[in-house]
Amino acid sequence: MTTTEPTTEPVTDATREAANTALNRLGTPPMVTDPYPLYDELRSAGRVFPSAQYPGLWAVTGYREVAEVMRMQNTANGPAAAAKWREDWADHESMRLYLSALVCLDAPDHTRVRGAAGHVFTPNAIQKMREVVERLAAKHLDDLAEQGAGGRPVDLIDVLASRFPVAVIAEMLGVPDDQAMLFYELANGWTRVWAGYYTEEDLAGADRAATQLRGYFSELLDERARNPREDLLSGLAARRGQDGMSEDELLGLASFLFVAGFETTTNFIGNAVHALWEFPDQQKLLRDDPSLTPKAIEELLRHGTPIVGASRVATEPTLLGGQEIPPGHFMWLILAAANRDPLQYPDPAKLDFTRDQGPHLSFSGGPHFCMGAALARMETQVLFPALLERFKTIEVVGTPEKRTGLGLIGYEHLPVVVG
Ligand code: HEM
Repeated sequence: MTTTEPTTEPVTDATREAANTALNRLGTPPMVTDPYPLYDELRSAGRVFPSAQYPGLWAVTGYREVAEVMRMQNTANGPAAAAKWREDWADHESMRLYLSALVCLDAPDHTRVRGAAGHVFTPNAIQKMREVVERLAAKHLDDLAEQGAGGRPVDLIDVLASRFPVAVIAEMLGVPDDQAMLFYELANGWTRVWAGYYTEEDLAGADRAATQLRGYFSELLDERARNPREDLLSGLAARRGQDGMSEDELLGLASFLFVAGFETTTNFIGNAVHALWEFPDQQKLLRDDPSLTPKAIEELLRHGTPIVGASRVATEPTLLGGQEIPPGHFMWLILAAANRDPLQYPDPAKLDFTRDQGPHLSFSGGPHFCMGAALARMETQVLFPALLERFKTIEVVGTPEKRTGLGLIGYEHLPVVVG
């Protein structure tokens, strides 16, 4: 059942059973290609819903409830708790590096490392990237035009959606051009173990990738300490040993900034291009009035939420949406569901650039609010007007292939014809 209007139906055993089936499906790979009907199924059994199969797990699908948890003081971050379910985590480089990244830290360590990151990843540093971003957007649109010349179908994810944000974050950090795609491959290998479900082979590959990534960043930081430039790695190298940062935290931060800088933005660009094609009236609205761009980007971020969810663990008894959540229980905040909560957004599956119903939750909130939100906004506010200006038509063709890894909503391949 897909609800587009708030439901007032009573919750029955059958509703609960359907919600449990939906929750199990959502948490088991491969990721369903269209998770939204399952989110609706879950929400209709309760906006804060306890899993029958995994006692201690609560799925939070309501906009208000997700926003409320993000503001709470009495929670710990969920990813660290999830990663540590594996007792031998400390024997794995991929886990150690992940657990020293910002999303996995809690106060006071989180406050300290985020403060240190804030010394180099500043609004000013992001603003200074604008010209670079414009140049890189133009270059990647040239590539798209060249590879898609004569109506040849071209994979938008490969040519534009992945390469553009990788190039931006590589340049901002100071990863050499010719190594950016190598770092990209390593980062993809490393992140395979972040979502909780992985094989022992994935883990072995992630360990190798994390070891290499850590080694490369360590060498680059040494090099920048000797020859500083205008990039984030030079900024981090200059502060090495300060701010109470351990070497693990520093390398975790550099590696995480690189991954966070492209993975999400890649999915966002793919989802947004697909949505503009699916809703031609909104595409026309934006073409006719490019000053709508900032608003359109926010609506595209709501509609095509790139990261499925965030998670928090209750550290004391917590009342949420009429449910009592005991300490130690895990709250899965399904951002993609909250962003399509019909109580907050009427007709939520519709892309509508004229909406005015409050900020979306795609960048999460509270102490873990996305540090790169301003960069992601700037990149896409530069890219989309240029994309629409450059190509009068952008048609999705063939069979787009969705990503199947849990945790991200996006396309693996999105064939388009540009005209
Ligand atoms: C459309 C693009 C993006 C989306 C949807 C997105 C989404 C998110 C979300 C949901 C979180 C929080 C997870 C939580 O609450 O546990 C997060 C954290 C973070 N993001 Fe982004 N992100 C995007 C782009 C970026 C970019 C370009 C960067 C730049 C390097 C970045 C850097 C970070 C960092 C460092 C954190 C950790 C913050 C913390 O835990 O304190 N993100 N992002």
